Amino acid sequence: MRTSKNVYYIYLLTILFITLSGFGQMPIFKRYYISDIPGLGWLAIFYVTHYIHYICAALFVGFSAYFITGYIMAGRKYLKLTVTGYLRGVLISGLIATGILLVIRNFEGYIFSHNFIIFLDLSHLALVMLFLFTSLYCLIFKKKWAVGSEKWIVDS
Ligand code: HEM
Repeated sequence: MRTSKNVYYIYLLTILFITLSGFGQMPIFKRYYISDIPGLGWLAIFYVTHYIHYICAALFVGFSAYFITGYIMAGRKYLKLTVTGYLRGVLISGLIATGILLVIRNFEGYIFSHNFIIFLDLSHLALVMLFLFTSLYCLIFKKKWAVGSEKWIVDS
């Protein structure tokens, strides 16, 4: 299995839109007039950002399953995950776990306790900030997800 640059660019686009739509869940783009910029009006429409977040979340879970399966099936013979690779893996697992529970929270009839919902929301948001800053750090300092055989490496 070879991970192409196209897959990597679609992954980056997914991260961009899952982040924009995620923050679109909070009333910040209207409050700070960002949604008044031509072409960005959709950022202030809750249900538009809500469904974009769900679609990107499904893609994000799909990408994670694709990379984990590739690594377990073959990659681990050629690759060694770096410390920042493990850290990003843990943060992504936390984002997916809290995200899935937040999706369940939105189903009718599922009653999580008030405190648990606050805990879920704050931990999802804390994981988002940790993931975004870690990814920025890795981009600036060219920290790779894994080291090993070039044929498996995609620039991080
Ligand atoms: C890099 C990945 C992700 C980012 C940057 C992100 C970002 C965010 C942000 C900023 C919020 C708003 C939190 C708040 O209102 O306090 C949010 C809410 C939410 N996220 Fe994510 N998220 C990510 C991944 C996921 C995944 C994988 C799922 C589902 C499997 C998910 C499901 C949700 C749900 C259901 C909400 C609550 C929406 C509502 O208010 O009903 N997120 N996300």
